[in-house]
Amino acid sequence: MAQTAQLILDDKTFELPVIEGTEGEKAIDISKLRDQTGYVTLDIGYKNTGATKSAITFLDGEQGILKYRGYPIEQLAEKSSFIEVAYLLIYGELPTEEKLKAFQYELSRHTLVHEDMKKFFDGFPSKSHPMGQLSSLVSALSAFYPESLKPSQTNEELNQSIIKMIAKMATVVSWIYKKSLGHPVIYPQNKYDYVTNFLHMTFGQRTEEVTIDPVVIDAMNKLLILHADHEQNCSASTVRIVGSSDSNIYASVSAGISALWGPLHGGANQAVIEMLEKIKEDGGDTDKWIAKAKDKNDPFRLMGFGHRVYKNFDPRAKIIKKACDDILEKLGINDEVLEIAKKLEEVALKDPYFVERKLYPNVDFYSGIIYRALGFPTDMFTVLFALGRLPGWIAQWKEMKENKEPIGRPRQIYVGATSKDYVEIANR
Ligand code: CMC
Repeated sequence: MAQTAQLILDDKTFELPVIEGTEGEKAIDISKLRDQTGYVTLDIGYKNTGATKSAITFLDGEQGILKYRGYPIEQLAEKSSFIEVAYLLIYGELPTEEKLKAFQYELSRHTLVHEDMKKFFDGFPSKSHPMGQLSSLVSALSAFYPESLKPSQTNEELNQSIIKMIAKMATVVSWIYKKSLGHPVIYPQNKYDYVTNFLHMTFGQRTEEVTIDPVVIDAMNKLLILHADHEQNCSASTVRIVGSSDSNIYASVSAGISALWGPLHGGANQAVIEMLEKIKEDGGDTDKWIAKAKDKNDPFRLMGFGHRVYKNFDPRAKIIKKACDDILEKLGINDEVLEIAKKLEEVALKDPYFVERKLYPNVDFYSGIIYRALGFPTDMFTVLFALGRLPGWIAQWKEMKENKEPIGRPRQIYVGATSKDYVEIANR
């Protein structure tokens, strides 16, 4: 017999169905709760609330497991490419060679952005934050590709919107970087694969032929794969909820970019490097900064530490830490902040404050050190996270549409003033 949960309210017993996922996770289905009981649930920050049934990404925070469509992140990071992982997330299976080629080809056909988009790039002050630019520019794409505005697209139209979104994102990100330097933009080259093309548009020059080091291409692929999806996090949930009102793909992704920007989410990668630099300038006394992070009267948090779901090692952080050593060695870079980061981690992992709260390094702790070694400035780090997370956002958006999920609209418990009569301004 199917398992149920019993809820006793006002002397009445209600049977609530229990749902079990393919990895054994259990949930109490409360979708009929209000209709049956008149009650709603309250879960500020959604710490206990499943918002959907999803077949994209599985993570077990207690055991430090992360899988995309069933494939362990460790295998994908070692063996796959970013575009293959994007295909896997969005279409549900690893592509055959033929399908991968066709996907690459389709992407390469849409890498150009409308020439008038360049006027937007020109309008931003050169020092404005790239994340603000990115969310605006992605939203602006909807004006140039209005076919995406149709609320109910055919499968083919939907697929075209997805392809355009992925293809144009790399161009937009690299052009933001070029504009920040005051350099002319570099146009995409269809002879390159997606990641090489992105690096070519970012680090290429109009004045000379630039060859991108294969170490840099491999590192970029790995980082983008590790960021590609992370189930119902703040930005993915934002993308789903915006899309649930039938907003177009550009508007939905733009909202996800805004959600990612905050330092508690993707913005942590920038905050980590800024923190490490500060510790370095302060003489490198890690004990002092650990003490600050533990001090409840000090707002400082150890950036790149802790996670809502992982209460054990973040498997992405393990891979990135190793990659960080390998890549810096291959590129012949000795970055002092890497030593500070390792020391902080060592001290924190032995400290009862961090141990008791199960705070471990997360994906953002070492990623910035690699981005910096590859040549990116600090304020581009979160934009790179967005580029990596894009396939995940799209997969989540597509799944929400395919499941025909209703508009996302939480309830609340009202705690404000009850009835008041309007008071004329002169009498207040
Ligand atoms: N440094 C010091 N104390 C911390 C930290 C930290 N980084 N993270 C959590 N705590 C403490 C927190 O003060 C609280 O202590 P107490 O129980 O005494 O009040 C306890 O640990 C639980 O923290 P919480 O804020 O209730 O946990 P949460 O699940 O709401 O927040 C988090 C998760 C990631 C927002 C938080 O750990 C944090 O702020 N970390 C630093 C920012 C960061 O690295 N963010 C990147 C997240 S991973 C990438 C991504 O997915 O975007």
